[in-house]
Amino acid sequence: MHKPEPSLRPVPKSGIMDIHAYIPGKAKAEGVAHPIKLSANENILGSSDRARAAYAAAADQLHVYPDSRTTLLRTAIAERYKLEPERLIFGCGSDEVFQLLNDAFLEPGDNIVQGQYAFAAFAIGARKNQAEVKNAPEPDYRIDVDEVLNTVDARTRLVFIANPANPTGTWLPFSEILRLHQNLRPDIVLVLDGAYAEFADDPTFSDGLDYARSSENVVVTHTFSKLHGLAALRVGWGYAPMAIASAVDRIRLPFNTSIPGQLAAIEALNDLDFQQRSIAHVNRWRPWLEQQLGGLGLDIVRPSAANFVLAGFPKHGKTAVAAEAFLSARGLLVRQVTNYGLPDHIRITIGLEEHNRAVINALAEFMGR
Ligand SMILES: Cc1ncc(COP(=O)(O)O)c(C=O)c1O
Repeated sequence: MHKPEPSLRPVPKSGIMDIHAYIPGKAKAEGVAHPIKLSANENILGSSDRARAAYAAAADQLHVYPDSRTTLLRTAIAERYKLEPERLIFGCGSDEVFQLLNDAFLEPGDNIVQGQYAFAAFAIGARKNQAEVKNAPEPDYRIDVDEVLNTVDARTRLVFIANPANPTGTWLPFSEILRLHQNLRPDIVLVLDGAYAEFADDPTFSDGLDYARSSENVVVTHTFSKLHGLAALRVGWGYAPMAIASAVDRIRLPFNTSIPGQLAAIEALNDLDFQQRSIAHVNRWRPWLEQQLGGLGLDIVRPSAANFVLAGFPKHGKTAVAAEAFLSARGLLVRQVTNYGLPDHIRITIGLEEHNRAVINALAEFMGR
């Protein structure tokens, strides 16, 4: 048997040092004390007052461990969406749910399939398990079901689809998700990431929860970080077939959601008024931003159904990298997406009216309009 060369220092297992650590949206602008953060698709309206009150009240319980089963939140979600409570998985953000699924299913040499511009967390968890990441081309910046199916091979264990997607914002009607699922082998887990699903109101859209009820290999994930504005508290969940929920339950950290997170999430879930205002705000300002950015000669990636827009710069002339720096110098933080293979684009979270106008004014100056 081959004996590895002795090393003078501890060496992480194979593949770890090839992983590119997740790059979060910028939170600081050089020389600007209070920049406007439009770089991480957070809820620009903040969070529900009811959730904030629950968070504050949780201060009395800081000395105790959280309920490891997340029972109250589990019950609240199960009742709201008419789901079997024991099929729910909770995590430190939906990021952890992806990670747990990767950990539960991938062996070295297996692979996951995702879209070319997929959200970075899917791949990190796969590579950590010494699995391969196979990217299906996304013509027009949008998942193409045939390309995904063509990319699947005998070693594929999971397919990750964010619908709507990040960073593109594009989405697929449920008929396409259905076609994908019906053509996948039954031993492959189809993960439908609904981080932005609540913003998608087209009647042909579905997050897949209804469908997942009667499926053996579909997992639908949601988060409290976007619509509910609780990104700081790190609460995400997944609805999985019982066998998958039971596998994940064996490997998750015992206390992976906190008491403040669980309690605030329950209140956020019940605050329909805050949710409606958040959605209405995005619906009001996304088309405005798209139209204004288009007017500046930028190429808007459509159809977008999330709380952000992706804007492309012409191949020659002003660049996305320079635009991001120009905005940052003015305290406007947007997301540069070169790490997603989109060097000519910037991603802008929908802001308050004054933020959106400030972005457009600054970009008009940048573009020399
Ligand atoms: C597509 C997508 N999925 C999942 C997440 C993860 O959210 P969280 O871990 O906060 O639940 C994000 C966050 O940016 C996202 O853009």
